[in-house]
Amino acid sequence: MRSYKIALIKGDGIGPEIIEEAVKVLDAVSFSEGFELKYEEYLLGGAAIDATGDPAPKETLEGVKKADAVLFGAIGGEKWDSLPRQKRPETGLLKLRKELQVFANLRPVTVYDELVNASTLKPSVIEGVDLMVVRELIGGIYFGEPRGNDGQKAFNTMVYTKSEVIRIAKVAFEIAMKRNKRVCSVDKANVLDVSQLWRDTVEEVAKEYPEVMLSHMYVDNAAMQLIRDPKQFDVILTGNIFGDILSDEASMLSGSIGLLPSASIGEKYGLYEPIHGSAPDIAGQGISNPIAAIASAAMMLRFALNEEGAAQRIERAIKQVLHEGYRTQDLSAYDAKEICSTSEIGSIIANYASK
Ligand code: IPM
Ligand code: MN
Repeated sequence: MRSYKIALIKGDGIGPEIIEEAVKVLDAVSFSEGFELKYEEYLLGGAAIDATGDPAPKETLEGVKKADAVLFGAIGGEKWDSLPRQKRPETGLLKLRKELQVFANLRPVTVYDELVNASTLKPSVIEGVDLMVVRELIGGIYFGEPRGNDGQKAFNTMVYTKSEVIRIAKVAFEIAMKRNKRVCSVDKANVLDVSQLWRDTVEEVAKEYPEVMLSHMYVDNAAMQLIRDPKQFDVILTGNIFGDILSDEASMLSGSIGLLPSASIGEKYGLYEPIHGSAPDIAGQGISNPIAAIASAAMMLRFALNEEGAAQRIERAIKQVLHEGYRTQDLSAYDAKEICSTSEIGSIIANYASK
């Protein structure tokens, strides 16, 4: 029997409850498709700080590398907000991404027909939106040196090397080839040198993909265009911080940030995580939406394990559940037939996915 090792990082806040549902669904589809998943749990973020004092313990950074893929919930919370930056939960996640060298963060934005009324935007604007944000994840201003803060002056450095831009651009073009063959590269080349290198390099890479139509957009304009006419986008290629901001914005096209999955991919490892945070204010109440985590598990099956059949089962089940009107609290106002708890909707998805 095909057998895979999955490293689970549940994290903080709603992390554990949504990962539990993702595992429920994974177990259902692996059984149906005839393969086996073995899980190992690792600590990261706040949970790791509480247990070891370190947001990214060595056992985690080393241990997860032995798995075929890493499934991650969410980290962070007020409890750890006053810690110095190096000790914060977020630093743990950034270290994990860097350690795994997962440079390409793929954030698909799908608008489910059933939820066109859930967005704050008009149905006519968002109906049929299907775009992919390709965000560079282990470079840019998040990691650039020097950086510092002496209380009077603080600074960070936005830096990209040509080779970093080449490798992320190639990912975006490859994805575009399998989609609608359009890449919009987002930068701030009218102001930033680093963006000029980004733009020039993307132009060079584009020559290898003559079938793909490349356009460029300044990030401020892109933020506006995403709301004005999101259907113009197919693949959005951008750097770390612009991608962070634009993907949160784009998530509202779908109606809830609780719906959007992501895959972070490198040469060797893959990290699969919902794009939302740990939502400590609603943790433990059974009202969080596990769909983003469950959809992240589907991406993991597709990209890391090559189990396309199982991935499609999950995606089909999510659509069916939404179609039939099952909703978690965040989507309760939108054609809900039944309001479900986190674990109820997880069980229904698992059930449909296994059929
Ligand atoms: C995300 C998050 C992270 C980021 C934080 C938690 C470090 O916002 O995955 O989008 O900024 O990358
Ligand atoms: Mn973010």
